[in-house]
Formats: sequence, structure tokens, C-alpha cells
Amino acid sequence: MDLRRPRRTLRFLRLACAAVTLILGTAAAWERFENIELRRVGTLFETSLETLREKPVGKTFAVVGDTGSGGAAFQTLFSQIVRERPDFLVVLGDINYRSIGHYTIFRDSLPADLPVFAVPSNHDRKIDPELEVFEALIGPARATFTRGGARFFLLDTSRETIPEDDRAWLLEALRVAGPGPKFVLTHIPPYDPTHPGGPPRTRHSLWDPESAAWLVETAAREGVTAIFTGHWHGFYPTEFSGVPCIVTGGGGYEPDSGQIPHFLLVPLDGDLSRMRKIDMGSASMAQTLAWATDFEFEDFSDRFAPFAAAGTAIAWFLLTILLRRARFRPALVGQPAGLRSLSS
Ligand SMILES: [Fe+2]
Repeated sequence: MDLRRPRRTLRFLRLACAAVTLILGTAAAWERFENIELRRVGTLFETSLETLREKPVGKTFAVVGDTGSGGAAFQTLFSQIVRERPDFLVVLGDINYRSIGHYTIFRDSLPADLPVFAVPSNHDRKIDPELEVFEALIGPARATFTRGGARFFLLDTSRETIPEDDRAWLLEALRVAGPGPKFVLTHIPPYDPTHPGGPPRTRHSLWDPESAAWLVETAAREGVTAIFTGHWHGFYPTEFSGVPCIVTGGGGYEPDSGQIPHFLLVPLDGDLSRMRKIDMGSASMAQTLAWATDFEFEDFSDRFAPFAAAGTAIAWFLLTILLRRARFRPALVGQPAGLRSLSS
């Protein structure tokens, strides 16, 4: 019997496993590299500001939250937003429920010529703990800009609290802002909008009462026109200490029971009585569209590559052991029974 065959097979399998591991690892690394490379062409925030500078000021801006990053519902929603011709759009976080590559999918799925700003959220931070890719592709975690006499404050609540330095930043920014409407846009509402005045919940509002109270009191004292948040996948307009707080996480990703995907059109002059909510079909249709969103953009290389690589490594070890045993067994065939029993 040719004893070299198992050895050749073993060598071939080792090479095949190494090649598969290398290909999967390179695919995952390349995807990350591609994201970081986009630093060179500027963040979405920068390109959106550039677009705004080149066009006349419109009458409204659009707000939507919790969109996820692509799919049928996403495309339908964004097409409708473009039809309403807002000056720009603010996405209130949870743009990425899946993997690091979905920031690219989000950005590539946006309509051309629609300036889009976004705040980071708990799900975005779960995928991207230091917001490294968010800040490279989408924009700064906190920012402020002016448009049509209104001032916009993009506040980072992605840690489900408001750290000291973010509080100091917002307070300073509010105080130096001139007259005109002031809009605070962030992901997480200070309190549970379905129980206004009740204690903050741990899952769907800022988890620490101190941050929640600070935000509401500061907004009231500094004359904030309205706070817009997402996080809840529905529409829950409420008011805290006299400041309108509009929860509008209707971007189509798994809507709350009975809630319909939607977006808001808000007058730049701050007159909330003229604010419009645009619904996107029925609640049952919403569930169907959210389902489509979930599965259409499953990202194989990023999501499964680590498992595939680990599986390949385990398979490699198991095969090595099996083939080593197989390599010695033929040599014992024909030996006395006593000697064969030594091998078992
Ligand atoms: Fe969230």
C-alpha cells in the first residue's frame, strides 16, 4: 500500500484550509479598509454641508429615525422623502443593526443630492464601539450647524446617557446660538414617551435620571424649540417641561405594534403647528417591508467570516488527527493479533 497518499492528502487539505482562511480573512479586512478609505472623499456630514451651501434655502427639513441601512422599505421611504423636497434630512440614529459594512450600504443607498445628517445611536455603537467608522463615513458624533436662521444641534446619546463633556458642549453651543429656532436632534428620548412624567425606563429612554432631567431642564431654560428623537419605532409626540419632544423612529425597521413607518417635515421657521407627518402605508405592510429590510442586505463576509474561519480551523485539526491515525493503520495489517491490539 502507498503510504505517501495520506501524507499528500493531508498536505493538500492543509493548503486548502489555509487558502480558505486567508480568503475569508482578507474579505473581512478589505471591507473595513474600504470604509476607512472613504475618509479621503469626506464624511456624509461634510458633503451634505457642501451641497447645502450651493443651493437656496428651502422651507422644511425632514426627520426620520431608526431606518436601518437599506432594503425595500428604505428605498420606498427615501424616494418619498425626496418627492417632498425638504431642504435636508436628519436621520436620528440606528442606521446600522447589522455589521460594520452597513455604514457603506447606508451611504450608498441614499438618494443623490439629498443632504443627509445623522446622529449615532445605541445600535450604531454596538456595531462600532468607538464610532470610528461612523465618524469616518457618516460624520462627527456631535455637531451643530445653521440653516435658514435655525440652529441644529446633533447630540450623541448613543451610550444611553449624556456624559459631562457632551453636556458642556451642548450648553455652550446653545448659549452662543443667536436668535431663531433651536432644534436638538438625538437618538434616545429623555423619558419614556408613552408614560410622560413617569420614571425613565432602562431600555427605551436615557437610563440615568440625572441626564434625562439635565436635558429637559437645559432645553427649557435655553429656549429650545423642540427635541427630536428616535429609539422607539413609532410616532410619540409629547412634551417635557414645556419643550416639545417628538419621538419619531418610524424609519421602517421593525415598527412598534400598530405603528406605521413615517417621516416628518418640519418648517425651518420652527412653527410646529405646520409640521407634517407623512405615513408610508399600513401597519401590516410595514411589518412586511421591515421583514424585507432584514434579509435583503444580509452581509455574508462581515457577519459570517469569523465563524467560517473558526470552523475551518477546527475542521483542519480534526482532519489532521484522523489522517494521522489512518496513516499508521495500514502498516499494522497482517501483524499478529497481539501486536494489533497494541494499536487500539
Ligand atoms: Fe435605538
